[in-house]
Amino acid sequence: MLKELQLSLSVGLLLACGFLYQLALKSSCLFSCLPSSTAPQGPEALLRRGRHLVFLETSERMEPPPLVSCAVESAAKVYPEKPVVFFMKGLHSSPRPPSNSTHPAFSLLSAMDNVFLLPLDLESLFEDTPLSSWYTQVNSSAERNWLHISSDAARLAIIWKYGGVYMDTDVISIRPIPEENFLAAQASQDSSNGVFGFLPRHPFLWGCMENFVEHYNADIWGNQGPGLMTRMLRVWCKLGDFQELSDLRCLNVSFLHPQRFYPISYPEWRRYYEVWDTDPSFNGSYALHLWNYMNQEGRAVFRGSHTLVERLFRKYCPETHRDLPQGPTGPVTGKLGPGSR
Ligand SMILES: *[C@@H]1O[C@H](CO)[C@@H](O)[C@H](O)[C@H]1NC(C)=O
Ligand SMILES: *[C@@H]1O[C@H](CO)[C@@H](O)[C@H](O)[C@H]1NC(C)=O
Ligand SMILES: *[C@@H]1O[C@H](CO)[C@@H](O)[C@H](O)[C@H]1NC(C)=O
Ligand SMILES: *[C@@H]1O[C@H](CO)[C@@H](O)[C@H](O)[C@H]1NC(C)=O
Repeated sequence: MLKELQLSLSVGLLLACGFLYQLALKSSCLFSCLPSSTAPQGPEALLRRGRHLVFLETSERMEPPPLVSCAVESAAKVYPEKPVVFFMKGLHSSPRPPSNSTHPAFSLLSAMDNVFLLPLDLESLFEDTPLSSWYTQVNSSAERNWLHISSDAARLAIIWKYGGVYMDTDVISIRPIPEENFLAAQASQDSSNGVFGFLPRHPFLWGCMENFVEHYNADIWGNQGPGLMTRMLRVWCKLGDFQELSDLRCLNVSFLHPQRFYPISYPEWRRYYEVWDTDPSFNGSYALHLWNYMNQEGRAVFRGSHTLVERLFRKYCPETHRDLPQGPTGPVTGKLGPGSR
């Protein structure tokens, strides 16, 4: 018993040291990203001011694929003065960070001044929220979509506790979001849960967590995700249709027009992997959701391919772009010939 206590204390100490160490490495961030008068005490210190971006990895994967790396890097560039926090479940299961040589994207991200890779511990995250009773009862190995469901739950709890903006790891940031409390429409009457932001302890998210538990049904795809946000938005207020390109407001929550994050809608997701001959400006958008879950055929991004996604990488996540593999047809030199679009 005493021994177990000792062990968990020293593991806790190790984690805390790792965290402090990571902060100390980011000295340029210490002053701008942290309240300077208080010593950091774990994620709370970093997240206290509610001005951060959150990404989640609920699988044990420790090496982010290129699109994930691009999502985090582009956010770090668009919000240089804010902490960008990437919670990884794998860092909780084995708190030793992986080596640089086998995990180049992990190293690339952890070397960025305002990026923080932190362990994701679902049990302590759900403490003091309506999700806690659900989490202790659910049999995760019996749930087919557990990675998605646990991610749906974790994003609600994190943003409820700490505030900030949550983004899926297939969202490329292109300019700052000028909103504090917002949901993003993926179609006229449908909210997504791939991007949203709230001040800490916002009652909308508390309602979402209660509804998550009351209407839990893992067999309906998205029931705890976009479906939940859309249900709650209808409880919260009566929404009309979007007029032209403007956003809607509902009490103090903004419901952002599909153009802001979904200028390319999901039936058209393959357009991201087509060759484009110019860089579109997407001037009505803050970030682009790439619909990675539609990509069951595993389309990849290649350097020199001139696809829209490659153009986005080059512009918004140049370091990730530099490490991309060359296209299967070899290097493309010079201008695009006729026949490309
Ligand atoms: C790993 O990468 C970081 C950042 O690029 C660097 O500071 C560190 O020295 C590297 N560690 C090893 C063991 O190569
Ligand atoms: C959880 O689900 C798995 C797979 O369906 C099953 O084998 C296991 O017995 C269940 N565990 C409990 C505690 O019900
Ligand atoms: C937003 O509205 C909710 C519900 O009316 C309220 O509890 C919350 O304090 C409001 N937040 C702000 C920042 O006005
Ligand atoms: C956005 O781009 C479109 C087409 O390029 C242009 O017509 C429109 O005026 C631009 N809007 C803003 C706000 O710059």
